[in-house]
Order: sequence, then C-alpha cells, then structure tokens
Amino acid sequence: MATEKSVLSLLDKPKVVGKKQVSPRGYFMEIYLPLVANNAKPGQFVTIQATEMSARQPMQIVDTNPEKGTFSILVEAYNRSTVELVELFSEGEELFNVEGPNGKPFPVEKYGTVLLIGHGWGAGANYPIAKALADAGNEVYIAIVGGSRENIYCESEYKQLFGEDKVSVYTEDDEYGKEGGVVQALEDFINEKGQPDLVVFAGGASHGEMLAEATKEKGIKNLSLVPSLMLCTSGLCLTCRVKVGDKMVMNCIEGPYLDGNQVDWKNVTFRTGYYWDLEKESLEYFLNKLLPKLKRKKEKKQNQ
Ligand code: FES
Repeated sequence: MATEKSVLSLLDKPKVVGKKQVSPRGYFMEIYLPLVANNAKPGQFVTIQATEMSARQPMQIVDTNPEKGTFSILVEAYNRSTVELVELFSEGEELFNVEGPNGKPFPVEKYGTVLLIGHGWGAGANYPIAKALADAGNEVYIAIVGGSRENIYCESEYKQLFGEDKVSVYTEDDEYGKEGGVVQALEDFINEKGQPDLVVFAGGASHGEMLAEATKEKGIKNLSLVPSLMLCTSGLCLTCRVKVGDKMVMNCIEGPYLDGNQVDWKNVTFRTGYYWDLEKESLEYFLNKLLPKLKRKKEKKQNQ
C-alpha cells in the first residue's frame, strides 16, 4: 500500500546533487529523485530530459542510495543531450524531467561463474548487476574495456568491491591495462579460468555484435545490454524495437538486457547509427551557437 511518504515523493522534482568529472568526457552524476532511488532494480534505466527543449535520453542507473533518495548515472558526453546535461547542470539544479525506473530488471539468479564485460560507459551499466550477481552467490569476474584509458570507468570501484584479481582492464588503442577488446577479454578469461557459465555485456552495439559471435560459437549464455533509440519508453512508439530470434521485442519494456546470442546486432548497429550525421550536426550547432548563449543566460540569472 502506498504510504503518505511514497505518495508525496511523486511530487519531488529531480535535482542534481552531485557531479564528478572522471575523464575528459565522463561524469558521474548523482540525482535526487526518491521514486527512482527507492524502486530501481539492477539493470533498469531512467529517461532524462534535461530541459523543456531537450531530447529524452535513456541512461543506465549505476547505483542507488534510498536513504538519501538519490541514484547515480555515468554520463559519457557524446551527443547533444549528454553534452547539455554535463555542461549546463551542476549541484543544486533541477532537471526538467526524469522518468523511471524503466525497463526490465536483470534476471539475478545463480548462474555459477559470470564474466561481466563493460565497454566504455557499459562498465557503469554493469556495476549494479555485478553486485547483485555476487550477492546471489555467483563467482563474479569483471572485464573493463575501452578505446583508451579515457574510456575506462569504475575501475577502482570494482577493485574495491571484488578485489584486484577479479578485475581486468583492456584498452584497444592505448598502453593502459592489457591490449585488446571485448573478444580478447573473453578469450583470455577462457584460457585462464575456463568457460564462464554466463557472459554479461554492456557497451556499444558493434562490440556487442563481436562478442555475441564469440559466445554463440562457444555456446556460452550471453545477456547483453542492447543500445537503441527510445522515444516513449512505454511500448507505444516502436522506436526501440529489436529483433531477438524470430521475435520483435520492445527494448524499453523487455530490455535493455536481452539474449545477446539471439539479437540481430547488424540491425541494431544500423538503426542506432541511422541518425548519426544529424546528431553530429545538432551537436555542432549546440556547441557553437546555443551553449554560449545558454551559459550567458544562466550566469545572468545567477548574478541577479
Ligand atoms: S521507446 Fe517507444 S516503444 Fe520503446
């Protein structure tokens, strides 16, 4: 039954209460919104609309603090919505709208040995799942992969939680950690410890596709976060549809973690990249024309 407190929390406005830059493009943001903090389960996400004019951006929940009524996200600023979020919002500022928790919680069960591979921002997405799988009695190992050191996230958090020997770091174009990508991380793991019972992946679609080819070939169960465009996050607009085996699923309702071995990754890559030129144009316009104006407006308001 809804308590007076939980009903009143519906009226809370989402507010940024913490922001920490951890790489040139990466930020952890802590957001106050008890409705999400109290109800989010590992694997779920929020949809953030920073201002009235912003696009809605799905973002994975990295951590929750129900006592404070807050949750954390990892923002890798790569498009207009994410750049807007990190450039224009600081501690104490309200966001226009945050909706969630969205999506299906990750199926936390006893699988046995689990290897969680996170590419770039995916390391943050996998973080609450790794904790929940360990609590459920699984033997949990982590691989954090990035193009360079700048895309390696949550390394110290994972090491603190699981110990140095359970966490491996890989970079594709850098000399940080071991050399290689998501498939190398899986192959090294198999050579050292044998085949895992489950691989969990989060990151970009092209990396998801490469990893799925390897897990399928080796017959390893694979649950992967499938990135997709999302508009309504309520199963109505079909923007987020993903082909899984012979079924079409709504990623905002059934995902974001789906059977990676069954996902049509080529289609996911094609659809997520479809508007990339327009997104680039929109980001350039935002950075060169809108952002300086919005910053001046904000400064003026703060000085009043
Ligand atoms: S985002 Fe509209 S159906 Fe999923």
